[in-house]
This record gives sequence, C-alpha cells and structure tokens, in this order.
Amino acid sequence: MCGIIGYVGHREAEPILVEGLRRLEYRGYDSAGVATLTGPHLHLRKRAGRIADLARFLRDRPAPGCQGISHTRWATHGPANDRNAHPHVSSDGSIAVVHNGVIENYAILKRQLQDAGVIFDSDTDTEVIAQLLEQHYDGDLVDAVRKVLGMLKGTYGLAVVSARQPDLIVGARLGSPLVVGVGVGEHFLASDPAALMGATENVVYLQDGQMCALRADTWHVFDNNHIRIDAPIHRIDWDPIEADKGSFEHFMLKEIFEQPEALENAMRGRLSDEDATSHFGGLNLDARHLRSAERFVFTACGTSYHAALVGEYLFEELARLPVEVEYASELRYRNAPMDRNTIVLAITQSGETADTLAALRESKRKGHHTLALCNVVGSTIAREADGGVYLHAGPEIGVASTKAFCNQVSVLMMLALYMGRMRHLSSIQGLRMLKEVRALPGIVRRALDCHEQVQEIARKYYHVSNMLYLGRQYLYPVALEGALKLKEISYIHAEGYPAAEMKHGPIALVDGDTPSVFLIPSGGVADKVMSNLEEIKARGGPVIAIACDGDEELARHIEERADDVIFVPQVPEYLQPLVSVVPLQLLAYHIAVLRGCPRA
Ligand code: BG6
Repeated sequence: MCGIIGYVGHREAEPILVEGLRRLEYRGYDSAGVATLTGPHLHLRKRAGRIADLARFLRDRPAPGCQGISHTRWATHGPANDRNAHPHVSSDGSIAVVHNGVIENYAILKRQLQDAGVIFDSDTDTEVIAQLLEQHYDGDLVDAVRKVLGMLKGTYGLAVVSARQPDLIVGARLGSPLVVGVGVGEHFLASDPAALMGATENVVYLQDGQMCALRADTWHVFDNNHIRIDAPIHRIDWDPIEADKGSFEHFMLKEIFEQPEALENAMRGRLSDEDATSHFGGLNLDARHLRSAERFVFTACGTSYHAALVGEYLFEELARLPVEVEYASELRYRNAPMDRNTIVLAITQSGETADTLAALRESKRKGHHTLALCNVVGSTIAREADGGVYLHAGPEIGVASTKAFCNQVSVLMMLALYMGRMRHLSSIQGLRMLKEVRALPGIVRRALDCHEQVQEIARKYYHVSNMLYLGRQYLYPVALEGALKLKEISYIHAEGYPAAEMKHGPIALVDGDTPSVFLIPSGGVADKVMSNLEEIKARGGPVIAIACDGDEELARHIEERADDVIFVPQVPEYLQPLVSVVPLQLLAYHIAVLRGCPRA
C-alpha cells in the first residue's frame, strides 16, 4: 500500500517528510520521493528502492524549504523505477502530485492530453492528474484540484503543491484514507496517522468527497459541495511504545507473539457467566431484530476474508444461522438477491480497505442492516456501519495481518455464541464454551512454543518455489491463510486447498520439491485427512504436519508418515483455527527472513 505525507510550517520539511515515510515503511513499497518548495522553486527528488536510497540521494541533493509532499509507492501502473516514483510533476514543472488509489479512466484522459500535445514523463495514472492541473490552474490551486477531480473516475488520496502558491498544500480523498495533522504554526497531511506519530496527536479524518487546504497557520476542510465545514479534531489513541518493535527484529514477529494478549483484550468485559453468553455494546440492534435475522453475509478481503470463512463454520455450527462469505471486491458489483432479514457484516483490520467499504455502502444502499468488525478505532468503515465490534488487537504495523486475524476469529466466535444463545444453545453449552474460550490466550501462548522448531523447518524449505497448504472443515480457511501469508511475505507461490480436493487435479503439482503443509484436526475428519496425506506421500511430496498433541495413537501415525510434525495444544475443533494458524504465521515469517524479503 502506498503512503503519503505532507508538511507546511516553519521547520525544514525534508527531515519531517523522510521521517514520516519511514513510519509508513512497514506497509511495503518499491520507490519513494519528495517535492519541496522554496518560493517559486520546486525541488523534486525521487528514487526506486528503499527510503535509505532516497535519504542518500537527499544527502547529495537536499530538498530545501518549509513545505512539501512525499510518497512511498507500490508499482501499479508502470514498473518500479525513478521515473514512475511519485511525486509527479506537470510539464511546466509548477505542480507536484502524490496519489494513492487508482484512476480508472487515466488511459482516455492521457490520450486526450497527448493529442493536445502534452508530453508525459512516466507510465503512471497519477501523472494525468498533474498534467490536468496544469491545464486547469487559474491562480487558485484549490479550485484547479476541484475541477480536475470532477474529471476522474476511480479512487484517490491526493496531496498537491504548486510553485505558484508556495504556502499551500491541497488534499483530497475518495476511497483512500487521508488525515490532516493539526499542529501549532504547522500542519501535516498523511495517508495513515502512524506517519504523524511524534509530530502531532491532533488529527482530522477526511471523509470521502472532502478536500482540505493547509497553510502554516490555517487548515480548512471542504465537503463534496465545496462548502467549508467544521470538521472535528480527534486525539489519536495511539501509544508510541506499542508501536515500537521492542526486542523483536520485525513487527510481524512481535505481533505474532502479541496474540495471547490481543485475545485477552478482545474478550475483556464481553463474557458473562451470569447469562452464559457474550455481550457487545455497539451492535445497535435489539435482541428482537437479531433473533429475526435469517441469514448473514460476511464480506472482506485478504486475511480478513479467511477469518470470515472460519466465521461461517462457527455461525452455522453454533448459531445454526446460514452464512455466505463474499469477497468484498465481488459483492460490491454483484446484484445477488438478498432478503430483508439478511445482515451484512464487513470484516476488516484497517477499516479503510476500499472494496470492503464499497461493499458495505452498497449493502446499506439496498437497505440491509450493516455491522463491521474493525481494528482501527474511528476508521471509515467503523464510522459508516450501522453497528459493530472493535477487535482491540492494538496497532497492527506488520504488512501481513496476524493478531488482527486472531481477534477477528475470536470475536466471530463470541458473536456465534451470542447468536447461538438467542436461538438454541442451552446455558450449559454456553457456560462450557465460555470456559473453553477463556482458556484461549494461555493455549495460544503454548502454541507459540513451536517457534524454534518452525525456524528449523523454514531452513529446510526456504529455497522451494511452490508450497501447498491443505486442511478440511475449520482448518480449510486456515490452509488458505497459511498460503496467503507465505505468498505475501516470502514471494513463494503457494496454494491452499480443502485436502480432499487434491485428488481432483491439483495433485499433479506434487513432486519432491513441493512441500505440503497438512493441518490435521483432532477429531471428526482426522482419518480422512490422513488418507489425503498418504496420497501426497505416494507422489513423493514432503509433508509438514500440524497436529494437536494429546492423541498418542494419531500422533504416532502422523509421525510415521510426515517428514516433520509440529504439535500444537489439543483444543475442541471450533478453536483449532486459532492454534493451528500460529505455526503457519511463523513459517511464513522465517521463510521470508531467510529469503531476505523486505516485507517480513
Ligand atoms: C491487503 C493486505 O491489502 O488487505 C492484507 O495485504 C489484508 O494483509 C487485506 O488482509 C485486507 O485488509 P483489511 O484492513 O480490510 O483487513
């Protein structure tokens, strides 16, 4: 995900911008750049590669001035090189733009501009915005941005400066987050409040369709009718100590180890022995409405989608409620028939993912009650859903979601208990579940004991090009999540499958260089998964098994067949996703570190 930081004030902008970019580094990027202003002179510095490369370049060619914008880019339009790095500047060199999001109609706009003689310097969609701004600038940058936004289709978080108005930064948001940092005699603009840590605690979250104009002494927000509004200032609820890596080498490892504590925070105050159920303050739905719900649609992206799939099994088993899980990117454009009593639940760590937000809005438009499970307090989805539950996982800095997944699954578990107790679960069953759920933080702590063993296994396999992850029932979504973690962090091709599906084609992929990670359940379908494991062994595929301890006969059986076995604590089947995911997170992390991948 790309990052934006802008500054206007009384201090030199360059160090503030570079420090802000470093704070956004965790999201991953492939190039970075800054544009600053001294009076009518615009200073552009950008580099493919790490922020350290940009910082080295800036040592030789500093970017002077007390105002500027900067960006970290993940290539989408055009390769990762110096030319395509942001900021992008108009042909006359007067206007610089940084942009998150995608301009869907950029090709048409670019062709029109080229027909009119404009020469482009990059392959990006963003440069179109800079060139259009040059064409429409008429002495007022806010007005020019407003006009150009009217021509764009797509999403943007945007920061713009002009050498003709060197005291001003203009920002705009549609589908890509942007916050204003309010200081004294200085103001900031950022795509993530994390970039502002240490700079200011006072932020204004821009809403979709809003623009802002920042000068050293003033900040103004305009609504989508271009009327100046009084936007509320929020104090960031952010503990800088929490965002520190501590003794861990990377945020991802730190966050994997924070899972027991994150689980405790997700459960705090939500479990009630008296009613043998869980309680939530923010659902904004009374019991009568919840009881009349006939169906849930869970919608999410990436890791959150996998948590939703676990939630589907939980809701159907514990609450006997039908659930459909939809990728948000599909749901937003689908016109599926949904009856009135369907509740749409969006699941998201950040609360800002564009597809999830669009799916939520589309569901609201169709009259459905919407709920959200979000981690980031005050995020757009948290604000726009009719009700919801916060995950309380704490800041998740690592680009690969780990502790947020853990808390998403645990909150879904508690919600399933809540819905189940309204329907058919007895108080005895409710109390038993409460006891099991309360034990989870300690159990996940024990699951983390496999760390060193996983590191050994990572050394054996980090060079491979393909890996398979196989599981059934509750552990099928965990197989998908294990594969996603490995892809996202280690850049190794990986696929997750329901174990029994292997024989219907994908088994052709198995050979001695393609390890399979088998998630073996403690009950139910364990024998069936073992026969799937035999199929893989028959083709000479190495097998890493994740199994519960406690069943000696099964353990012996697995040890005889698998090349490596990682034992995790024995838990009832519905809790297994939370213990089995731990070795998979650690495996992806250690393989990434051994391969020298920067996103770990
Ligand atoms: C992707 C991230 O961009 O967004 C994934 O790379 C993440 O790790 C996904 O799971 C969804 O994010 P969120 O914030 O909506 O849970």
